[in-house]
Amino acid sequence: MSDVLYFNGRFTTTDERVLGVEDRGFQFGDAVYEVFKFLGKRPAFLLDHYRRMDRGLREIDIRSPWTEADFEAVTAELLDRTAFADGIVYVQVSRGESKRAHFYPDDIRPTTVAYSRAFPFPDAAKKERGIRLLTAPDQRWKQCQVKSVNLLPSALAKKRAQRAGADEALLLGDGFVREGASASFFVVSGGRLITHPLDEHILPGVVRDRVIGLAIAAKIRVDERPLREEELLDLGEAFITSTTMGVMPVSEIDGRVIGNSRRGEITGTLQRLFDDLEKQETSRR
Ligand code: PDD
Repeated sequence: MSDVLYFNGRFTTTDERVLGVEDRGFQFGDAVYEVFKFLGKRPAFLLDHYRRMDRGLREIDIRSPWTEADFEAVTAELLDRTAFADGIVYVQVSRGESKRAHFYPDDIRPTTVAYSRAFPFPDAAKKERGIRLLTAPDQRWKQCQVKSVNLLPSALAKKRAQRAGADEALLLGDGFVREGASASFFVVSGGRLITHPLDEHILPGVVRDRVIGLAIAAKIRVDERPLREEELLDLGEAFITSTTMGVMPVSEIDGRVIGNSRRGEITGTLQRLFDDLEKQETSRR
């Protein structure tokens, strides 16, 4: 099945083979990416994604190919050309294509890619049931705040989780809980929300940030601190957040049931508040 594809300034479909084999995204993982959601053809939290990508590009010395306005225009046209109303857009910017060498040319032109895709967002039953996590060592690079395409450690950890009957890997490093392989991680303990602080060990999740804002507005205390591994053994509630999953309860970690295996109260409240915010955001304009 083909999808609408934006590639270096023009629109085509994913049937066209557009990338050269010497694109540095392919050979060096020299690229950053974003995934944003759209509902009724309206993007959710688009500028949050743009700003994170722009920061990531700066951190790895790639010239940003788009201003905020360019990015809004390109993604608006992509959604206009898309045949369905709800889904995700995958965006990737690589350093560009040049003869393979670790030293990259200073004048290289970034490769820009964006395509829309239908996505099976979780239904009400799944959002109540939640997902199972399997812990795994965090083997990613030391700049996890950059959403780089170097996803091999995350892909391997997720595959191991899947083989063990879980849905997502929960990454542990230096005795601390970092985040999911492709999601932010929260626990609720003593009525407070705990999540890893923003630093080089985690991705600054767009949904994470919104959920923290919603929690504070709802007078739920938020502690941004690293959780020790052993704190996982005694949890009231836990949930993950991401663009594709929203706020998703965690029902089990390493086979141990969390809470009474039902969606926790604070998790349910934040899930509802976040879904409402996302609806508002995608119905504006
Ligand atoms: N993943 N942490 C990691 C390591 C992630 O890869 C993601 C997102 C998140 C959540 O970020 P956000 O709330 O901005 O979606 C946290 C995307 C969806 C992916 O890789 O497909």
